[in-house]
Order: sequence, then structure tokens, then C-alpha cells
Amino acid sequence: MSEIPGNKPLETEFYYPPEKTTKNANIKEYDSLYRHSIENREKFWAERAEKLSWFTKWDKVLDESNPPFYKWFTGGKINIVHNAVDRHLTNWRRNKIAVIWEGEPGDTRIFSYHELNREISKLGNVLKSMGVKKGDIVTIYMPQIPELLISMLACAKIGAAHSVVYGGFSVEALAGRIEDANSKVLLTADGGYRRGKITDLKSIANEAMKRSATIETCITVKRTGHEVVMENDRDFWYHDMMSLPIASPVCETEKTDAEDMLFVLYTSGTTGKPKGIVHTHGGYSVYTSTTHEFVFDIKDEDRWWCAADPGWITGHSYIIYGPLINGSTIVMYEGAPNHPYPNRWWQMIEKYGVSILYTSPTAIRGLMRFGEAWPNRHDLSSLRLLGSVGEPINPEAWKWYSRVIGKNNCPIMDTWWQTETGGFMITPLPITPLKPGSATKPFFGIEIGVVDDAGNEVKTGEEGKLVLKKPWPGMARTIHKDPDRFVETYWKDFKKQGWYKTGDSARMDKDGYVWIIGRIDDVIKVSGYRLGTAEIESALVSHPAISEAAAITVPDELRGNAIHAYAILRNGFTGSKQLEEEVRKHVSHEIGPIAKPDSVTFVETLPKTRSGKIMRRVLKARAMGLDEGDLTTLEE
Ligand code: PRX
Repeated sequence: MSEIPGNKPLETEFYYPPEKTTKNANIKEYDSLYRHSIENREKFWAERAEKLSWFTKWDKVLDESNPPFYKWFTGGKINIVHNAVDRHLTNWRRNKIAVIWEGEPGDTRIFSYHELNREISKLGNVLKSMGVKKGDIVTIYMPQIPELLISMLACAKIGAAHSVVYGGFSVEALAGRIEDANSKVLLTADGGYRRGKITDLKSIANEAMKRSATIETCITVKRTGHEVVMENDRDFWYHDMMSLPIASPVCETEKTDAEDMLFVLYTSGTTGKPKGIVHTHGGYSVYTSTTHEFVFDIKDEDRWWCAADPGWITGHSYIIYGPLINGSTIVMYEGAPNHPYPNRWWQMIEKYGVSILYTSPTAIRGLMRFGEAWPNRHDLSSLRLLGSVGEPINPEAWKWYSRVIGKNNCPIMDTWWQTETGGFMITPLPITPLKPGSATKPFFGIEIGVVDDAGNEVKTGEEGKLVLKKPWPGMARTIHKDPDRFVETYWKDFKKQGWYKTGDSARMDKDGYVWIIGRIDDVIKVSGYRLGTAEIESALVSHPAISEAAAITVPDELRGNAIHAYAILRNGFTGSKQLEEEVRKHVSHEIGPIAKPDSVTFVETLPKTRSGKIMRRVLKARAMGLDEGDLTTLEE
């Protein structure tokens, strides 16, 4: 790829994939296949579904009888684990490496598909013996250790759904999710390693179990070995359970319906309560495997490393399900990219011969700070493709990633998607000429629009709301226990047209390339993590000193956004540096360190509309020293 010199506007700055990439690519042409996929949507997806292994074939590809509650492959019976594991056991992949895992302290574990199946089956039997069955939701709260992936797959195998709570979340976040899912079983670990320190997950889990009373059984993996509190009758060690006779390595895979719930994954929205996004066995299997195979050009000899956490959708779809369905060898790493030194990732790539690296702009910017010498010390020549996800990637980081990590030889797949979409929606293919900072064009079968409030396409180059016009197999089916909120959040604004509102704004350039600008609601992205201002605000007001609060973000060079909080104190409290520190810690304790505000400013009043809504826009403008805009709706 050649870096085009000069000062041309970004829209005209093309990077062309190297010949070795285009020559060997799984998909050699975009335009005609895209047209085919749009004109023959159901046929396209049916052909993709044929690649999977079904217990019973579907009757109908797409059931549109009750929009927006679309159903895919109805009548079909399929289990994602049957595709991600079982079917590989009948051919040479049985002995292929499925998982290469490395812990932060440097310990390693490797599983072939055969070995992975044994672990999943054993745990599946343990869960069954505890009464877990189809329709139950098991909550999983673990560091990034193999047992996390084994737990998810074990649940799916026996037909139960999982709800993974990111190991960086804390007490209130975990308790709320357990309660919403009404989980009776919690799978956790004593702790994990992060930057040389132990994260004390079991203590957080214990406190969360006190707040939400639904958990009857808690199984704990011994990872760090530090002392933890275990309660009689409730707490069991994972290794004890796995050594019981009940933990037989033979476990039948449940023949789930295509539309049976595979998992619920909680994600932040515009209110304080996170939404439980529901995905299913059938459509999600088809969508994650197709997107992974096409966009990352997956070959059997690849070593695929998605350096996300399984606790987020990126990890669900592209550490675990998509890649395992495709029979890939996946790499997982437990800890921080810069521990003990900033070469940790580059060392991993060299050591395991990683061929594709998929990560976030924040991680790239973070590693970029340490300079080129760190990656340059390592042989990164095994890499052939790179990927980015989670937030817009700024051209500077894109170019560094391309030049220093990819040696100008690895196209970057900047994939735009969401928890709700299940998989990539707007993304290049390895053959696509790239523009740094643009996610390029829609994936096959996906129709997008950049529109105004009335639904008219905005002019080329102008900012508008990004909508998705037609259903796709990987789409969220509903919000757990709250179908009305599902309709209200995503399908109300463009009800007439039947479009899905993404909550992002974007513009499209004259070449049809999409440039994502960012969220236009109260969802925020910090280091690529998704949070809601309302969630942070409700954590703030749960502190005894605070009566009212507002949270906003301001741009941050490293993390994309930084969180600033404003709080009104209750009578009898006075603002101080010490109180600020205490409040920041409190938010971190309730939600997790990722939600810790960078600053808390104590104020007398907050700008509000006459109807009492906090005008975060005004706070943000002030914080950034910008014009406060139209203040006519501001309360006196
Ligand atoms: O704002 C977009 C941003 O992340 C949001 C979705 O967050 P989440 O559900 O946590 O999923 C993240 C991983 C898929 C989107 O609404 N986003 C995601 N990918 C990109 C992005 N923004 C710009 N470019 C991307 N590639």
C-alpha cells in the first residue's frame, strides 16, 4: 500500500490493498455481489445458512409478519455449539488448535477442538446437574480466562442462555444484570490479573449477590488463589465440580430452535437501566460466521486474535462464536497491553504467529504513545490483515497502525457495528480501497441510509442520522423482558419507513464511503466502551452527599472521550478535593473503573429546560469553551 503524500482532503486519500491480498482474497469483487445480496436478500442468506450444520432445515428464511420482531430461519433447529465445536470433531480439525490462551503472568493454555469439547461437555453436565435448563439465563462474571469461553459454550450447548457481565464492571452493574436476568446460577472466578495486580472479582460478586437475591448457586474458578469468602450451600469451586463423576465429557448438544435465545448481553442506553439485548442461535450463527469469513478473509491456517474482552459484543461475536464456527485458531490474552512492558502485544504476535489482529482505536493510540521502537523489536511479519472497532479511528492512529504494525502491507478493516447488530454492518473487505477513518461501505445484504429527521437522504457530504433499512439475520430480536422499549428505542423514529435507528450520525462522501461521526444520544463511548450518561448519573446520586448530577463527555486524545461530572450537593455537605475523590471512587465501585469520571465539579445549579431536562449540551459547550448555542429553552 502506498501512503499518498501531500495535503489532500481525507476523502480522496486512498490506500490500495497489496496484490498478495487481493489475489488470494475469499471475496474478489464487491459491487456485483452486493447488488445480488440486496436484490435476492433471502436467497443470499439462505445460501450462507446452508454452509452450517442444521438438525432440521428451516421452513422460512425471514418471517416479517410482526415487524420489528423479525424472525430468521423459522422452523429450523440448530445449536451454535454444534457448529462452533461439534461439527469440527468429525474431521481433521478435531486436533486443530482452537484456543491459544496466555495469562498476564505469562502462563499459557492451549486447547484443540477435541479438548475444548471435553471441557464444555463436562461443564454442561455440571450445570445440568444443578438444574440449569433451557430458558434459564446463567450469569457469567469472569476475567479473560479460558473458563469464560468454556462457560458460555457450555450454557449454549445445553440450551440455556448466558449473560456475560464484563469483568471490569462492579457491584451495582453486576447486581442489576443478575436481577434483570433472574439468574439462579453465577459462574465467576476468585480474581484475574490486570497490570500486575489482582482484580478481586469474587468479593464484588459476593456483594452483588447480597444486593440481588436470585442466585442460588455460585461456581468459582480458582485463578489467582487469593483468599476469598465462600458461603456454605451456595459456593462451589469450579475444579471441584469438574472432578465429580457427574462431570462426564460426553454431553448431548440440545437441539434448539433457530429463534431460541442464545444470550442476553446488557448494554447502555439512554436511561439508567442497561438494556438486555437478545440474540438467537440461528441468525446470529449465520451472521457472525459469514461476516468473519468474508471481512477477515479467514483461511484455515490463520491465527486470529481479536484483542477485545468476551464481556462485550466484540468478544461474543468475534473472539468466540464467528471464529469457532469458521474453525479458526483463536488467540486470547488475559491482561493489559502494556504489562510488564509496552511490547506485550507485539511479543504475542511474534510468539504465536498471529496473522490477523482486530482491536480498538483506543488500544492503538495507547500503544502508539510508547513509540515505534517497541513494535520494531519484534518480527510482525506473520500479520496479513488488521482490524479496528468500537469508535471512529482518527487518521493519525490509522496510519501508524498501517505503517508501524502492518508495515504498509496489511489492509485495515475498520468495522462499524453495535451490540444490537450482532456483527459487522459497515466495513471494508480486504479488496476494498481504503480511506483512513472511513468504515467504507455496507456489508452484503445490508442497506443503509444517512437521513434527516423526516427520513430524507441528506446531501452527499452532509451529516445525517445513520439508519438500517432492512432486517438482517444477526439483528437483535428484542430487549429482554421489555419489548416495548425495543420498539421505542430503535423503531419509533422511522416507524413509517420501518427503519432501524442506530443512534449514530454519519456522512457519506461522493464515492459512497461512510464516515461515522459518533453517537447522537446519551450513549457515550469511552476507550471504545459503551456507557450511558444516565447510568453514571444514577451512580453519582447514589452517593449520600449528592442530590443531583449530570455527566457529559469531552474529547480526549487517547480515549476518544473523557467523562466530566457536575453535582449538586445535599444540605450539610461542602465540596472539596477529598469529596471529589470519594465520589469518583464511588462511581467506580458501583459501575466499574471504566465509568470513573475524570472530574467531578460541585455546582449550585444545573442548566435545565423549562420541563426540567438537564441540558448536557450547555455543560459540554462550557467545558469545551465553545458557544453555548440556542438557550431559549433554558430555565431562568
Ligand atoms: O457509535 C458507534 C461505535 O460504537 C457504538 C456501538 O457500541 P457497542 O454496542 O458497544 O459495540 C461496539 C463494538 C461493535 C456504535 O453505535 N462504533 C463501533 N464501531 C465503530 C464505531 N464508531 C466508528 N467506527 C467504528 N468502526
